[in-house]
Amino acid sequence: MRRPFVAANWKMHKTVAESVTYAHAVVPLVEAITDVDIVVAPPFLALPAMADALADSRIKVASQNVHAASHGAFTGEVSLEMLQGSGVTVVIIGHSERRQLFGETDAGVNAKTRATVGAGLTSIVCVGETLEEREANRTFDILDRQVRDGLAGLSPEQVATQVVAYEPVWAIGTGRNATPDQANEAHRHIRQQLVSQFGDSAAACRVIYGGSVKPGNVAELVGQSEVDGALVGGASLDPTSFSEIVAGSRSTAI
Ligand code: 13P
Repeated sequence: MRRPFVAANWKMHKTVAESVTYAHAVVPLVEAITDVDIVVAPPFLALPAMADALADSRIKVASQNVHAASHGAFTGEVSLEMLQGSGVTVVIIGHSERRQLFGETDAGVNAKTRATVGAGLTSIVCVGETLEEREANRTFDILDRQVRDGLAGLSPEQVATQVVAYEPVWAIGTGRNATPDQANEAHRHIRQQLVSQFGDSAAACRVIYGGSVKPGNVAELVGQSEVDGALVGGASLDPTSFSEIVAGSRSTAI
């Protein structure tokens, strides 16, 4: 049994004040939903205020990135210790925007993932193919490589408690979500890769879908047998819309 996991990735949106307003609005909207893991990832600056505002709720606070090193001369970067000190328990790693716009590699994703999991936090490792790769029938090869290299070095027990986000690049911010069949097929493939790499216990790793998730399509997507939740960008910026997505993820077949 895999518990649904729904995360809001705000990307570069909202000031600290706007973040706190959102936190106060969203808590009562999801209060009654006790069977879904709920996570919000604001920009770095808003993390301490969000952790404070959400302290009495079940909503966890995530960062959108981290540096793999514990400290040092890395101008502009943020360490795990700093994040933990600000109430962060979940870290998004290797989002396609970071891979495409900021040059992140599978090796870099792996270093961040190992550091994050080693520190006892939960990683959301993002994988996904571009449209060009899908059209060239390379989707499964890309997913295999990103999962294999991104999670290398973790123990089977660690993998079982992590989250992998399948985010096809062509579905992010485009309004064009993967069909439920496309998502389920990719998720099944990712889970097979995890099991072949780490053994049967890795099947417990939750694989969530991201890419144009909305209140109107979440139930069908998360209703697929291999889809364990959602990573939501644009539609997570409004507390009502995000709460509807959390509620919609409960009608899951898992
Ligand atoms: P959208 O929901 O805006 O398509 O973004 C998806 C995403 O990148 C979440 O990490």
